[in-house]
Amino acid sequence: MSNILRQRIAGRAHIPDLRQVVVDVTDTDVPEPVTHPVYEPTAGAMTDSASGMFSARRADDDTLTPVEELKRAVHAKLIERLDLEALERVKDERQIAAQIRKAVAELLRNERTPLSQAEREGLVDQVVYEVIGLGPIEPLFRDSTVADILVNGPRDIYVERAGKLQRVMTSFRNDAHLLSVIDRIVSRVGRRIDESSPMVDARLPDGSRVNAIIPPLAIDGPILSIRRFGSGLTPQRLVEVGAMTEDMLTFLSACVRARLNIVVSGGTGSGKTTLLNALSSFIPGTERIVTIEDAAELRLQQAHVLRLETRPPNAEGRGEVTMRELVKNALRMRPDRILVGEVRGAEALDMLQAMNTGHEGSLTTVHANTARDALTRLETMILFTGIDLPDRAMREQIASAIDIIVQVSRLADGTRRVMSISEVTTVDGDSVQTRELFRFSRQGITAEGQVAGVFETTGKVPFFVDRITVAGITLRPGLFGEPT
Ligand SMILES: Nc1ncnc2c1ncn2[C@@H]1O[C@H](COP(=O)(O)OP(=O)(O)OP(=O)(O)O)[C@@H](O)[C@H]1O
Ligand SMILES: [Mg+2]
Repeated sequence: MSNILRQRIAGRAHIPDLRQVVVDVTDTDVPEPVTHPVYEPTAGAMTDSASGMFSARRADDDTLTPVEELKRAVHAKLIERLDLEALERVKDERQIAAQIRKAVAELLRNERTPLSQAEREGLVDQVVYEVIGLGPIEPLFRDSTVADILVNGPRDIYVERAGKLQRVMTSFRNDAHLLSVIDRIVSRVGRRIDESSPMVDARLPDGSRVNAIIPPLAIDGPILSIRRFGSGLTPQRLVEVGAMTEDMLTFLSACVRARLNIVVSGGTGSGKTTLLNALSSFIPGTERIVTIEDAAELRLQQAHVLRLETRPPNAEGRGEVTMRELVKNALRMRPDRILVGEVRGAEALDMLQAMNTGHEGSLTTVHANTARDALTRLETMILFTGIDLPDRAMREQIASAIDIIVQVSRLADGTRRVMSISEVTTVDGDSVQTRELFRFSRQGITAEGQVAGVFETTGKVPFFVDRITVAGITLRPGLFGEPT
């Protein structure tokens, strides 16, 4: 704890160096850039790069605004003033923030730079974010309208709001500053990033997913992608935002409660995980659920949930735990349902076998552009196992395991929609057959650039409708557009 906090306060710098820096900075009224090892893509990356706060600046970022200057000076003085030893014993981040806030306010009282009340408040926030948060991107992180935060470099930051990417003015001072924030994020979740392992995929405590990749793999400097997890997109909310109709939701919720096996299929960022999470809310609280993910994003509401997460290999290339091993292990945990965040490889076979052998009601997602494509992808994944299963047997396994494929897409206008809900029926000849039950039919683009279209039923009633009835669920006649 003590070291971690100390490093956090100091922005992960070496403490002795920092003390030195603090003296340097406070000795002069206007802080001079302190010569400190810079982050150079080819030189000893993380270890030498002190907090971006203090590291020497590169030629392209020589201009500091007066407020930037002040922030820098305040941060430096803060490290000198704060009783780090005492703060180390404080476990509650809010208390740490409160103490920092107080110290900052005090420091600012003695500053000559005239600041308005609002600027003062803003500065306090910025220093607090710098010391215990994510620096310049912390406000974005706290903004619930921001879905994704994409940092392409210190000065090139985008956010996604309401499905649209937009560039924001926020910036990091330089590569080293960005790197120090990346380092803070990943070290908080017990991972590390440096030249020898220059990429990390992890999840934050709030369920957001973060990916960081740094030089030498990222050629032009560190890149950070934070993908917010569909906060607040409850099933009802998905209907409100037009992702599907109330009828489609009624049907899907019945499928979950009647223990049908569901695969959500879609492209990158199309809303698969969000929908899976929403659907999971219909699982009765009496069931024992095991979730298996690469980076735990799902946030199940039930009390009886066991969450498993795969593990990447360590620096020596050892200790990896794959999805497949976890699926196998999950089966020994007496689960009622298994939720696999996304099937990508050999685990598909184990998942299908589980679905076929008493773990009905399992849910997963797969990366594919159509329902048909999803089935082909599953076949390919089964081939990854190396088990020589005849094609026919493989397809039968798929057809009997999966009941429903829900296809989601991110459309040109940024909206995410359930494009179709199909029932998986039988194997006919060379392929697994599907029957579409609901679909979104596109009708062009409006003058405002919105995708126009309507949700339609196909008039087909799923063959498995009896299973829904047997589960004690009554669907309204005409739900599928069938004649009543
Ligand atoms: N119906 C929706 N309306 C608006 N935003 C949505 C909707 N569904 C998902 N999102 C947002 O889209 C982003 C991507 O969602 P999600 O992570 O569920 O997609 P995914 O398909 O699982 O992505 P990946 O391919 O990375 O696994 C998130 O920011 C989420 O909040
Ligand atoms: Mg996902």
